[in-house]
Amino acid sequence: MKAAVYRGADKAILVEEVELESTEGGEVLVDITSCGVCHSDLHIMNMMPEAPMPMIFGHEAAGVVKEVGENVTSVVAGDHVIIAFYGSCGFCFHCVKGMRNLCTNRDFADRQFDGSRPRLKVGGVPTMQGVGVGGWASQALLPESSIIKVRKDAPLEKIGLIGCGVMTGVGAAIHTAKVEPGSDVAVIGCGGVGLNIIQGARLAGANKIIAIDLMDSKLEMARQFGATHCVSGANGDPVAQVQAIAPTLDYAFEAIGLGITVQQAFAMIRPGGTAVVVGVGMGKVAELPVGDFLQEKKIMGSMYGSGQVHVDIPRLVDLYMEGKLELDALISKVRPLSEVKEAFDDMTGGNVARTMLDVNA
Ligand SMILES: NC(=O)c1ccc[n+]([C@@H]2O[C@H](COP(=O)([O-])OP(=O)(O)OC[C@H]3O[C@@H](n4cnc5c(N)ncnc54)[C@H](O)[C@@H]3O)[C@@H](O)[C@H]2O)c1
Ligand SMILES: [Zn+2]
Ligand SMILES: [Zn+2]
Repeated sequence: MKAAVYRGADKAILVEEVELESTEGGEVLVDITSCGVCHSDLHIMNMMPEAPMPMIFGHEAAGVVKEVGENVTSVVAGDHVIIAFYGSCGFCFHCVKGMRNLCTNRDFADRQFDGSRPRLKVGGVPTMQGVGVGGWASQALLPESSIIKVRKDAPLEKIGLIGCGVMTGVGAAIHTAKVEPGSDVAVIGCGGVGLNIIQGARLAGANKIIAIDLMDSKLEMARQFGATHCVSGANGDPVAQVQAIAPTLDYAFEAIGLGITVQQAFAMIRPGGTAVVVGVGMGKVAELPVGDFLQEKKIMGSMYGSGQVHVDIPRLVDLYMEGKLELDALISKVRPLSEVKEAFDDMTGGNVARTMLDVNA
């Protein structure tokens, strides 16, 4: 099979031939149709400069099951699937308590991704699957728990985005924060994840939904996803502007991964309000005024939208198929697999909500 192979920040990402191990035990081999480009791919590349190379990134993929190992029970060859980027064991404390997104017993998956049991080779060299999938490839070999069966009438070239950006964003609003109907919400950062937090807040019945971004193009997209108000972060600190629109802001979401914007999220919520940090970053967490905790302000993280992917991903597909979830407008561009670098440039330049890579082009 072929894949876009990452060999370090200073090297070109080229499409190369990749050798796959045979499909064993609890593993599933998927023929990938397409895969999105998420900011987490870039973050993880930057966070792991010492990681053994090469690696294959990409983690918003959908495709068709090609082959299953002898212990696999949930899918068969020919099933349409979305790949979840965080598989789970099903038996640890968190899994049993309904928090599979926080599974702490991931040896089965980690060995595949940390290098101790690589399933791929490029030129004879063991190759890791970055961000838990390795989706910028024509095939992926993964543990069964990462493979989510979905209905066959949903377009595979689009629904891969549900595997990360949509689940993460919509889930952060609905599952992590549990946004209440009628509440006021602000979302800082309107990329692929932030736009989905906005539509999650819309689905939850929020009243005011305030989008904040540095780029006017992103604020325009935000309106399409359900934002009722827009604030440009380019005009200085957005806190006062948001509070002028929603003096008792119930929820603020940070979807960038910067200390300063986490601070802003915490500052703009009302007493008793909740700030949810969805963004991933390398820097230190924000400095927060201790006195604000006397106001019972809450701050919390969100991992994979607190999603229980085997239930939530098929539900999100249904919502899309019924016209209740926006997905088409998330895909600003489709590019061939060879154009990962151009897709990153578009993302960091603020030109796209998401790029989909057609892995077979
Ligand atoms: N928690 C999770 O489970 C999870 C899952 C997936 C992605 N993420 C993280 O979510 C974050 C967003 O990912 P994405 O793919 O949407 O990224 P993106 O690059 O598409 O979007 C980021 C947006 O933030 C805006 N922005 C940047 N600096 C800003 C500032 N100071 N004020 C206001 N807006 C600003 C950009 O213009 C852009 O629109 C990343 O950190 C990613 O790693 C987290
Ligand atoms: Zn992602
Ligand atoms: Zn577990």
